[in-house]
Amino acid sequence: MNRILLTGHKGMLGRELFHVSRELGKEVIGVDLPECDITNRKQTETAVFDAKPDFILHAAAFTAVDRCESEADMAYLVNATGTQNVCLAAQKLDVPLMYLSTDYIFDSAKPHPLPYDEWDAANPMSVYGKSKWAGECFVRDLCAKHFIVRISWLCGHGGTNFVETILKLAKERDELKVVNDQHGSPTFVNDLVPELIRLSENGAYGTYHITNRGFTTWFEFAKKIVELTGLKTRVMPCTTEEFPRPAPRPKNSRLSPRLYENTLGNRMPTWEEGLKKYLGERP
Ligand SMILES: NC(=O)c1ccc[n+]([C@@H]2O[C@H](COP(=O)([O-])OP(=O)(O)OC[C@H]3O[C@@H](n4cnc5c(N)ncnc54)[C@H](OP(=O)(O)O)[C@@H]3O)[C@@H](O)[C@H]2O)c1
Repeated sequence: MNRILLTGHKGMLGRELFHVSRELGKEVIGVDLPECDITNRKQTETAVFDAKPDFILHAAAFTAVDRCESEADMAYLVNATGTQNVCLAAQKLDVPLMYLSTDYIFDSAKPHPLPYDEWDAANPMSVYGKSKWAGECFVRDLCAKHFIVRISWLCGHGGTNFVETILKLAKERDELKVVNDQHGSPTFVNDLVPELIRLSENGAYGTYHITNRGFTTWFEFAKKIVELTGLKTRVMPCTTEEFPRPAPRPKNSRLSPRLYENTLGNRMPTWEEGLKKYLGERP
């Protein structure tokens, strides 16, 4: 791929995708709000057809998981219909497309500690998860040449993410309570992006799980952030029930990296390595 149309280029992942693709000498045409609203089919088609891409990276989404519960119409409009519009444009140009999806399409039914494989049945618990699953369905139905990459607990510079939230709270409070019964993997944008680009050039279309290696809980993740930054806040474990949120979240959303590792012959750094690098690069 040499000429990429990137949706959501102003977002946490989109910014790094834009930057790294350009560094690799690719032409990247970024589209985002307000110039191009993917919920508007005409605007989306115009943006895609004008760009004449040979690959589409579709990273735009409505990602505020809790807000999706109260703004379900908007969640489905952006994540399902918006994705349908991007897919229809890709279909007309017959160009391959990569869609970013989420561990929240799973429901924890798989007994912990087994990780989810790509072929396990989806059963999203939240509006966000359902709307992203609807997006996956459009991608499979409309684009023969597609990659669907499920990622989880995304952390990137300049974005709203768990590391920044914990660092902010740890400076304000002596003690933090963090959920210790949701299991998954952080995904650091700087580790993920090169793998997305490698996969997109591989031609092995299909669905993949890519996260940093190893599994943890939000509590263990928070403890590590505080430990590595030398902050003195006490981090205490709590249950999901003790920390109710508008959107239900799976207790086990571990994603197996097997297919990605077999296909690319590569392994992601561990989440601890990803975290250390992220903290070291923080402005
Ligand atoms: N963040 C995570 O933990 C996580 C986990 C799993 C999967 N993912 C997936 O990974 C991808 C990237 O996530 P991210 O965290 O980088 O998201 P993000 O920071 O929220 O970026 C998404 C971008 O899409 C834009 N956008 C929203 N609605 C749009 C519309 N109607 N038309 C055009 N652009 C629109 C947003 O603009 P505004 O900011 O102006 O709304 C934003 O610039 C998404 O597909 C997400 O579902 C994320």
